[in-house]
Amino acid sequence: MAVWDDAAKVLKDKAGAEMPVAGIVLGSGLGTLAEDVVDPITIPFSDLPGFPVSTVSGHAGSIMIGTLRGARVALLAGRSHYYERGDASAMAVPVRTLASLGIEVLALSNAAGSTQRHMGPGSLMALNDHINFRGQDPLIGYPDDSRFIDMSNAYDPDLRAKLHSVAQAQGTKLNEGVYAWFSGPSFETPAEIRAITMLGADAVGMSTVPETILARHAGMRVAAVSVITNLAAGMQAEALSHDQTKRESAKAAERFKNLFAGFAEALA
Ligand code: HPA
Repeated sequence: MAVWDDAAKVLKDKAGAEMPVAGIVLGSGLGTLAEDVVDPITIPFSDLPGFPVSTVSGHAGSIMIGTLRGARVALLAGRSHYYERGDASAMAVPVRTLASLGIEVLALSNAAGSTQRHMGPGSLMALNDHINFRGQDPLIGYPDDSRFIDMSNAYDPDLRAKLHSVAQAQGTKLNEGVYAWFSGPSFETPAEIRAITMLGADAVGMSTVPETILARHAGMRVAAVSVITNLAAGMQAEALSHDQTKRESAKAAERFKNLFAGFAEALA
């Protein structure tokens, strides 16, 4: 049995057999979604075999299983990032654990910088594609032909449509665009931002892309939303900082929370 099947068994033993409709990964400063989960059972990553321990402030490592607007969900707070250890497969065990539980949808969130002036801090953006600018792949070393996965429609069009209809019903503007993955932890240079903008990126960030690849490999459908916390390097007067990321994502957290809660409800 793979380590993720062991972790799935621990989760089932603690949280019961009722299947969550979605796994949700919370980005920097977006942990408040957990407050809306009813009858939560929280399991620290440290109790789950193979789970990574995050070293990022604002990311407590735990998985919470409970009910969000009538929908059973598994919330992951405290994702691991490539920049912590240079390991693109840092989230392989958590993602495969959710798949092993039988969860078919993975909803990812992140804080990101925007290359589009009209999409400033506080904006929400549904990912419709990504650019793996880091060029690292979490499936490197995976030992069989299943590693050759198709990445067209990686961000599921039906789930994206659901996100848009939920946003519309809530009166929330939801942009759509391409997310470019940079390794971090240093922010990008202005020249890198000019380059990636020409290449078609609307937002830049340090996560999500490895998880999307892992989830597609595990057969899950993916939805992802960026909370824009800043204009990208060279586009704003304020120096980029993780403090700004946390501050601005906290400001947008309420709209983000309603969007993801409504999305979970729509899946139930
Ligand atoms: N770049 C990379 N990651 C980020 C940014 C950014 O500008 N803002 C929040 N996360």
